[in-house]
Amino acid sequence: ATAQATGQTHHHTVTVAHRGASAYAPENTLAAVDAADDLGIDWVENDVQRTRDGELIVMHDTTLSRTTDVEQVFPDRAPWNISDFTLDEIEKLDAGSWFGAEFQGETVPTLEEYMDRVSDNHQKLLLELKAPELYPGIERQTLRELRAEGWLDHRHKRRLIIQSFSADSVRSVHRLRPDVKTGFLGTPAVADLPEYAEFSDQINPSYKTIDAGYVAAVRAVDGAHGKPLEVYTWTVNDGPSAVSVAGMGVNGIITNKPDVIRDALDDA
Ligand code: G3P
Ligand code: CA
Repeated sequence: ATAQATGQTHHHTVTVAHRGASAYAPENTLAAVDAADDLGIDWVENDVQRTRDGELIVMHDTTLSRTTDVEQVFPDRAPWNISDFTLDEIEKLDAGSWFGAEFQGETVPTLEEYMDRVSDNHQKLLLELKAPELYPGIERQTLRELRAEGWLDHRHKRRLIIQSFSADSVRSVHRLRPDVKTGFLGTPAVADLPEYAEFSDQINPSYKTIDAGYVAAVRAVDGAHGKPLEVYTWTVNDGPSAVSVAGMGVNGIITNKPDVIRDALDDA
């Protein structure tokens, strides 16, 4: 379907800051949340994992190496898996310098600290459960923390989507809290969409895997809450690609450069 045929205009496309505004500040830090806020972007995406002592933190890779100075601080602890470090140890790490000297001293946020900052900024959260197979029970634990922070209250629920590449994990979130909006990360075959729709409200594919026909096929299926499945696609970092996928009828674009994407959609 074309943009015209679906009635979709570019202005209805949600722009989501991927790992925060991660082209401008170190990914998955409070600075990246604030960088999105400074650009007027209200949706941020993050990745949630668990420390050795059972605390939820925000980081993309399953090891600490790429986005912190862990190899200098703990040289004997290869391969530096998150799950081998306590929160106290992780809080000693610098999660900003790798990106730029001006971010020195930025830390790895706990999920709680991260949610507090998103709340303070009046932003919304697309929360990814990353590698949940490494962290049994992380779905229940994450929902418990979200609930304790008020994120599952009726008036706040529209500010939250939980997504994962693991269908089992998304299904588990849906079973535990059927009222929470969920997304499956990937590009399921069209024939399998009804199965995913039982526990998802969104199908969130790489933009390299989609065309207008696929987006229309997804949106033709009703999701877990009886509304057409939405499509939030990633990771689109240039204006022409954003205009192209918006024309396919996607509902959201996940991007490291939310200002570039928003301006391109505004001008299209
Ligand atoms: O939100 C979509 C995107 O984050 C999925 O890929 O590897 O960046 O977590 P990744
Ligand atoms: Ca992610």
